[in-house]
Amino acid sequence: MEKFLDLISREAEKAFEGAGYDRELGKVTVSNRPDLCEYQCNGAMAGAKKYRKAPIMIAQDVAAKLQDSEVFSSAEAVKPGFLNLKLREEFLSGYLREMSKAEKFGLSMPEKPASIILDYGGPNVAKPLHVGHLRSAVIGEAVKRIARYHGENVTGDIHMGDWGLQMGLVITEISKRQPDLCYFDPSYKGEYPEDAPFTVTELEEIYPTASKRSKEDAAYYAEAMANTHKLQEGDRGLRALWQKIIEVSVQDMKKNYEALDVDFDLWWGESTVHDVIPGMVSKMKEDGFAYESNGALVVDVAEPTDTKEIPPCIILKSDGAALYTTTDLATISERERLFHPDQLIYITDKRQELHFQQVFRTARKCGLIPEGTQLRHVGFGTMNGKDGKPFKTRDGGVMKLSDLISDINDQMRIKIASNPEIGPEEAERTAKQVALAALKYGDLSNQASKDYIFDIERFTSFEGDTGPYILYTIVRIKSILAKYSAAGEGRAPEGCVIGSAQSGPEKDLMSDLAGFSAMMDSAYKEIAPHRICAYIYQLSNDFNSFYHSTKILTEEDTKKKESWIALLGLTLDVLTTCIGVLGFTAPERM
Ligand code: ARG
Repeated sequence: MEKFLDLISREAEKAFEGAGYDRELGKVTVSNRPDLCEYQCNGAMAGAKKYRKAPIMIAQDVAAKLQDSEVFSSAEAVKPGFLNLKLREEFLSGYLREMSKAEKFGLSMPEKPASIILDYGGPNVAKPLHVGHLRSAVIGEAVKRIARYHGENVTGDIHMGDWGLQMGLVITEISKRQPDLCYFDPSYKGEYPEDAPFTVTELEEIYPTASKRSKEDAAYYAEAMANTHKLQEGDRGLRALWQKIIEVSVQDMKKNYEALDVDFDLWWGESTVHDVIPGMVSKMKEDGFAYESNGALVVDVAEPTDTKEIPPCIILKSDGAALYTTTDLATISERERLFHPDQLIYITDKRQELHFQQVFRTARKCGLIPEGTQLRHVGFGTMNGKDGKPFKTRDGGVMKLSDLISDINDQMRIKIASNPEIGPEEAERTAKQVALAALKYGDLSNQASKDYIFDIERFTSFEGDTGPYILYTIVRIKSILAKYSAAGEGRAPEGCVIGSAQSGPEKDLMSDLAGFSAMMDSAYKEIAPHRICAYIYQLSNDFNSFYHSTKILTEEDTKKKESWIALLGLTLDVLTTCIGVLGFTAPERM
């Protein structure tokens, strides 16, 4: 289906043309003065120069052409040259009836879906997930679902950090604690044990201990470096131990991501591309792009138009070790080899911007991907505490993601359990569901690049711009629909059809619904989940105004009542779809 604004713009364009002006001038937008009109067109202002005419005269000519319009019930030229427009109720309801029947509410699908690899999550093996990883997971999951809804082919890849110094540190610490393990015995030729020599809880404690020791003890640090190197070079025992670290850690990660309703198609790590590195590096050298500088191997990536200095991209350190950039480059080349993606999108903290600038430039310069492949980095801001500083635990430590999730679950359980109709089991389930909405909406409703304040009281409130408020609205609609239909299924029955709006609030709700496709399209193109949040917040507000101004179930005029029920059905479907692409769901009651 054509987007609503495009459709009504065509009517204005026809009028401009009919009055002897350029068609292009007829672009209609949502009014920024809703007190005066619903939609507006500023084309007369833009055309004044070309036609050497006062804009108001042009606007008047066009308004005259729109007098018998089937789209606009009123078109008024106002000084200095705006066109104020109001829609015909029948036209709007006709569009909504089409929308209700159409697949995805009439959102146009791409002729050829883009193939996209989305790199998000990015947890580090053996380190507990912390809140910094929360944003990547939450935003990435939404971006994936938005792109899929938009009809694109998306492969989500977690890109675990499983190959760097942290692995050497963990291995070193284990070797100190359990030096007799067969993994450390070079003469050991047998099979390695099935069971890991540590639990996940131990693992979570091992890394911080090792990291701390390495900072205080140079010999310890050197040993960790050596172990990292040995691991990367393929030492049999260390590889086997490393495998166990990954197994235990990934199992735990999966639990965390499941709690967030986040999932990945690929569980690649930095290590996945280890064998790709030597070939990639020699080609970079052969082609004359990579050269030695102070012992390290680098590629120049500065461009004459740079306004700040972009240092060369280091490919290998002086000891020949691979870096974060190296594995990212090798991953790009492997993704190209296996998937030929049209786009690669990375969701990370915005402080990694320089890293991605260097990596992208190197990848292009060295021809790791074809020219047409888009490389995009979506950098997000920091999640801060109420003090405006990066979010910490009460005693100032790094907050584990699992603790944060249980905090918000606890808070929500108290609220939900206060509803006497809900038993303990349902309360538990519902609390988790609403808490997830609170957490995700609290994050996604901000433009990703901005920092935001994690405010558990605000996020869990049932009022205001929050996830629970959206869910509350959905639950309200479900309950009305359930009361209406004897079947009590919380859906609008087939026979109900949307008719023309009877009131201002109803018309506002209807125009919101008509804007769905345009909103979804821009959320996809701009990689902007916050647009969906803003949309459903407005939609919920307008729904609630309509609800408070209308006695729906006691209406005696069956036609009117059925029309409202159908309108509720569409509102419910649109809201449910939107929260689905944002990555959460609504309960039956709360
Ligand atoms: N593991 C990294 C971190 O914790 C994030 C990885 C992001 N993805 C990438 N391809 N570099 O910061």
